[in-house]
Amino acid sequence: MNAIFKGTILSPISKNKLLFLKPGYLVISNKGKILELTRSNPRNIYKNFQFYNLSEKLLCPGFIDIHNHLSQLPLIGLSDTNLLIWLNKLVFPHEEKFKSGEIAKQSAEMFFHHLLKNGTTTTSTFVTVHKQATDLAFQSAKESGIRAFIGKVMMDQQVPMNLCEDTQKQLLDSEGLIEKWDGYDEGRLRYVLTPRFAVSCSFSMLKGIGKLARKYNVYVQSHLAESRAEVKLIKELYPDFGSYTDIYYKAGILSQKTIMAHCIYLNEKEIEVLRKTGTKISHCPTANRFLASGIMPYRKLEEKGFTIGLGTDVAGGYSLSMFNEMKEAIETSKMINFINSKKHYKPMTVEEAFYLATLGGAKALSIEQETGSLEKGKSADFLIINYKKLDDYKDNDIFSDPKNILAKIIYCGNKNIVEKVYLRGKKILDINNL
Ligand code: GUN
Ligand code: FE
Repeated sequence: MNAIFKGTILSPISKNKLLFLKPGYLVISNKGKILELTRSNPRNIYKNFQFYNLSEKLLCPGFIDIHNHLSQLPLIGLSDTNLLIWLNKLVFPHEEKFKSGEIAKQSAEMFFHHLLKNGTTTTSTFVTVHKQATDLAFQSAKESGIRAFIGKVMMDQQVPMNLCEDTQKQLLDSEGLIEKWDGYDEGRLRYVLTPRFAVSCSFSMLKGIGKLARKYNVYVQSHLAESRAEVKLIKELYPDFGSYTDIYYKAGILSQKTIMAHCIYLNEKEIEVLRKTGTKISHCPTANRFLASGIMPYRKLEEKGFTIGLGTDVAGGYSLSMFNEMKEAIETSKMINFINSKKHYKPMTVEEAFYLATLGGAKALSIEQETGSLEKGKSADFLIINYKKLDDYKDNDIFSDPKNILAKIIYCGNKNIVEKVYLRGKKILDINNL
């Protein structure tokens, strides 16, 4: 649909720079690409384009959640313990249910629908160990229109029998899914090799994953150094390796197409290996707090030049909302100064949190040429947000500053202010028609 949208336009340019047009015009082609962003009325140039006047509603890029677990949505909020106990007591028994195609299909449909409702237009998602459930997740993602990176969880040790699969079978199953889905629909669907974490993966499977990643040039996602108990267990399971990171490195799974979640308990050597290999980091502040795992030293890793995005890590995290994730990212970054009194780190700003939830996430997934910001030539993946809903006092002055708009949507916003979601210029969701 050739169209022009008039509204308040807000999009990240860099970590501390915003594009702010109030009012602005977003021009999109019938191929779903952004043709132009402009302050001056372009209706004389683009004749016969459908015109939408959104008044002062906000137009911003869709959010990018680079780490979550499709199967865990019903477990949101249900933990009063820490990572390893939670996995064994709650997560694994629940994931066993995904053997059923019916449960897997329903869960996937619900999951992608909820992501879109929350304004998330790109996701990187763990399914379960089941091949069929993973195939059904791709099918649902395709039908929902969301941009999705999806992978079958791989586990061949230290997990309940029903979730423990033969190493070779898992490598073959994953290869089959790569061939079927990677790059599907103009690359909007991508396969991600998904070893759960080194605790539940043998070294020989990790090596096989490294080989597959290189053979097909596909993504890899996993967890790394999330909790102290996990790091301790890793030392017992892998006594001959220098560190947790060393296992992944020696297996050959670290590259620019690898996204590691959490990265809390890393030593300097590990940080250097991750940096050199170009590994990307998924920062999951909500989960890190909810499972009482710790605080990732965001500023330290950012200053070392890492590409970082945000992950809700549902249900390690208690919310699928990137509004919440941005808020937690800022609030936990303030806490690190209290803990690390020797060095003063600059807390994360609202602009930075917005960047991480959009363009930063796109960079972490190497799709910043396609999405992550409102920019000429990119896919028109955007949200219409009614931020005025957050202003009880009808104080127009507040919203003349883009920082204030961001602060309000981050601290007071949630899915209720996301009115419409567009993907490739096509309206995918409209709260007025739900
Ligand atoms: N580490 C291994 N598996 C998981 C999981 O499902 N969630 C989180 N947060 N960490 C993990
Ligand atoms: Fe996770």
